[in-house]
Amino acid sequence: MNAPAVDGAPDSGRRRVVVGVAGGIAAYKSCALIRALTESGHQVRVVPTESALEFVGSATFEALSGNPVHTGVFTDVPQVPHVRLGQEADLVVIAPATADLMARATTGRADDLLTATLLTARCPVMFVPAMHTEMWEHPATVENVATLRRRGNIVVEPASGRLTGKDTGAGRLPEPDEIFALASLLLERADALPRDLAGRRLVISAGGTREPLDPVRFLGNRSSGKQGYALARLAAQRGADVTLVAGAVAGLDDPAAVDVVRVQTAQQMGDAVAKHAVGADAVIMSAAVADFRPAAFASSKIKKGAGEPDSVALTKNDDILAGLVRSRNDGTLSAETVIVGFAAETGDEQGDVLTYARAKLARKGCDLLVVNAVGDGKAFEVDHNDGWLLAADGSETALAHGSKALMASRVLDALRPLLPPSS
Ligand code: CTP
Repeated sequence: MNAPAVDGAPDSGRRRVVVGVAGGIAAYKSCALIRALTESGHQVRVVPTESALEFVGSATFEALSGNPVHTGVFTDVPQVPHVRLGQEADLVVIAPATADLMARATTGRADDLLTATLLTARCPVMFVPAMHTEMWEHPATVENVATLRRRGNIVVEPASGRLTGKDTGAGRLPEPDEIFALASLLLERADALPRDLAGRRLVISAGGTREPLDPVRFLGNRSSGKQGYALARLAAQRGADVTLVAGAVAGLDDPAAVDVVRVQTAQQMGDAVAKHAVGADAVIMSAAVADFRPAAFASSKIKKGAGEPDSVALTKNDDILAGLVRSRNDGTLSAETVIVGFAAETGDEQGDVLTYARAKLARKGCDLLVVNAVGDGKAFEVDHNDGWLLAADGSETALAHGSKALMASRVLDALRPLLPPSS
């Protein structure tokens, strides 16, 4: 077989990022975003609105970004900041973006430095909305969001949950880590957030399973869930309706606009995936499912001394991925459901990683297999990865080293043309 084509590594070095901050209570969260961006080596200019400064003072923004902060177009006039900041930026992120700011952006106003910057920016512009649910769902905001998206801006799906006061609902600012992940992805790849999965339903499994031995012990694995969470986050931001079946993960926040179903064991994961797969356009099994579980569960803690077991007997868990393929073959699942598997492989004297991965793709019968070489600190518990994408039609693509978000975007790109035509 020929060597796979390499999907080129993007430039993710030091970049110029404008962080716009509009006047909402979530403005305080922009501080963590600014810090994360500057700590990654980017050159950050913060442009708040006047009302944002009611919530966070300019001294905070200046200290965090290491740059001066202005709100109007008449400060520092010889530098023409109202034109240059936008022109020179590699990315503009507005977090929080209030209903008012998005309305002003939609009408093309330039009555402060932030809106003027939006008119001159030619780089990706990402609005991260935060407002009360009523404001988010108001037809004026809905139309403004649609207009901004139609013009090529990214408008992030907000999170649901506790808003200011006692309210809950959609409209919460996603956590700073999540905004940072999306911003970093756009710096790696400017076209990473199209709305090409709108109207699609995806089920994604993530994390490791825990197989209980007694009330306090379990057999687990080192999966952090980061890759599956990155996939779920991105699929939702590309417009999909996403159910994330999450096993044990390393303290990750729920991705915004994703339904999270929590499970512990492989059996629970199998049941949840099978239930939610019905009617889904695609199922992505990125979870590290335990192949075996203890044959018996001790209902009280196994103690040292009398009754101490010499060994732990194991029994095999069902293969969820292979089960999905069987359900598709016997008609329980739609023939059009796309099934994606993951493989963490090591090579040995009998074969290299790709040889084993090709055999796994054939054995599992899925449509796509995402392959990661493991060992030497690769794949598990880290933020970056590389690997290959093998498709059932025999095509193979090497995925150059990049963030797990970038890997996720490539997996979704490969999945997208396999989906049935939208109804
Ligand atoms: N998988 C699954 N159910 C299992 C085990 C694995 O659905 N009981 C899925 C994983 O989510 C992944 C794929 O199968 O998408 C491959 O997992 P991997 O552990 O690499 O494969 P195994 O079939 O367990 O093969 P190996 O013998 O190499 O461990």
